[in-house]
Amino acid sequence: MCGIVALVGSREASPVLLEGLKRLEYRGYDSAGLATVTTDTDTQKGFITCKKAEGKLFNLVDLISVEGAPGHIGIGHTRWATHGKPELRNAHPHVDSLGKVAVVQNGIIENHTLLRESLQNKGIKFCSETDTEVIPHLISEELSRLTQDGAIPNGEMLFLAVKEVLNLLQGSYALAVIWAETPDVLIVAKNKAPLLIGFAQGEFLCASDSSAFAGFTRTVLPLEDKELALLTPLGVEIYDSLGERQHRTPSLIINSEKDIEKGQFRHFMLKEIYEQPETADQWISRYLPDGLSASSPIALSFEDSFYESIESIQILACGTSRHAAMVGAYLLEQFAGIPATVFFASEFRYAPPPLAPNVLTIGVTQSGETADTLAALIMESERRSNLKDNLFSSRQLGITNRIESSIARQVSNIIDIGAGLEVGVAATKTFFGQLLTFYGLAIMFAAKKNKRSLKEINELCSQLRLVPNQLRDLIKIHNRLTEKLAHQFVNTKDVIFLGRGINYPIALEAALKLKEISYIHAEGFPAGEMKHGPIALLDYKVPVISIATQGIVFEKVLSNAQEAKARDACLIGIAPESPETQIFDHLLPIPKVSEWISPLLTVIPLQLLSYHIAAHRGLDVDQPRNLAKSVTVE
Ligand code: F6R
Repeated sequence: MCGIVALVGSREASPVLLEGLKRLEYRGYDSAGLATVTTDTDTQKGFITCKKAEGKLFNLVDLISVEGAPGHIGIGHTRWATHGKPELRNAHPHVDSLGKVAVVQNGIIENHTLLRESLQNKGIKFCSETDTEVIPHLISEELSRLTQDGAIPNGEMLFLAVKEVLNLLQGSYALAVIWAETPDVLIVAKNKAPLLIGFAQGEFLCASDSSAFAGFTRTVLPLEDKELALLTPLGVEIYDSLGERQHRTPSLIINSEKDIEKGQFRHFMLKEIYEQPETADQWISRYLPDGLSASSPIALSFEDSFYESIESIQILACGTSRHAAMVGAYLLEQFAGIPATVFFASEFRYAPPPLAPNVLTIGVTQSGETADTLAALIMESERRSNLKDNLFSSRQLGITNRIESSIARQVSNIIDIGAGLEVGVAATKTFFGQLLTFYGLAIMFAAKKNKRSLKEINELCSQLRLVPNQLRDLIKIHNRLTEKLAHQFVNTKDVIFLGRGINYPIALEAALKLKEISYIHAEGFPAGEMKHGPIALLDYKVPVISIATQGIVFEKVLSNAQEAKARDACLIGIAPESPETQIFDHLLPIPKVSEWISPLLTVIPLQLLSYHIAAHRGLDVDQPRNLAKSVTVE
């Protein structure tokens, strides 16, 4: 949440910063701003130009195109509001009272209230409600103290001032600082929020993630927690919190982001729904190619001992990733016979289960940056290492779509879902990639632990191979059907989704998709739970969308749907065409497939229906209000 960029070099900074912000806008779009330093040719004094605009980045782009922001050094920010409303006065950068120190920050300064109070007691006036604003004021205070101390070069003084102030901050931050007195010095620092430095010839770009480096450089160095760096056009110096110089070699990022266009599609979300057959094709050619041995049916490079030693699995994730994890847990338990539990990462951090031996902890995060998931993984690893017992040692696996992200640096075993960059804030193809990854893991655990016969494993693998073409057909049919059906949701205020077994998480995911892009209240329930309370919500105004696939709970789900129909609810079925499914007022048909495979198909009409309802309402499908694609605060 919130994206920051910072440049020091010899060309005009603002176009590079705006380009970086464009690529980081998915992290928040409540406001955007940038600040530069340049030297006045008459007075030879440095000054800061700070420009901010409420709302999306294009407002800032327009402002800069008219008013400019001169300078070869600058910092930029795209905001997702945490402290203070999404208004201009809360937009970053924030400056000190003299207008000489400017700061952008991502993260949360947890002790900002105390720091603010003590600054206010000294007469400092605040212009915003943000936690960030304490930082430029504190740096300014420290600079004036150091100035009195005597002859320290300005660049070093800024570095020392920031270093001192970092000691006062509690919480998470990635920040960048400029000072009017140093038109060629940039200071950046991070703790529990991502920050990477990109190296080019005589210029350096810092950013919250590697996507901002596209077209600038592929040579990148991530900062570690509590490190700070001093950047000038001559080079980069990195220090730890004790002031010890750190020496690390930058590495080449593999996935230099290409410009992604919407092409023929009205929204990225629709394009990404259409890309799911390709996601499946690529996953199959990478993880399920022909010719693998019966004992290792999926191309994952873990040793046999990895699977054999694990007795249970706990999965930590948030939002859509948690729904994929729930399908995963179902597969791991029911197909591979290994106990698996899913936790909200944010809950796990503060109420973990008692430690058990031989547990694999899986973190699932498409962005690889979700603060709660990363922190829960760290907490789990720490409490296990405290035990100093091999049986309880921490074994972790990360599932992500961003192999350059924080989770990939934090966890040694990583599975790349390889879905390609997802621009739409509502996750679709990355969810699909996560599902496929869990199929792969369940197959491997079943094979390595001899929980399923060769025939059963081969059968599931063969069914997975059919999925890409099934998806192509489904998307074509359902894009048309759901677009038509969406017209009936013009006045809808509440929707209920029902599913059971392996499709219960799909009901949850469908409800989440609808909520986040159409702002319609929606809930997903296990179909059998309806009669225990939620059924009271039903009347003719509340559509009930029921996932009824062939398998052990097919008839049960149909009975639950009948109960809803008896309460006048309009009934929509995600189900195969058959005499039994004629009970539905509208049928979004899916082919008769094995229950194991069904979530890969049932999710498609539900994604499309949410999309068309939101698009029909004229909403901003790709950047829904209040959301961000990467949730880097707790
Ligand atoms: C919903 C959505 C969010 C994310 C959640 C976790 O469409 O995208 O619910 O799933 O914020 O994000 P990641 O997967 O990046 O950890």
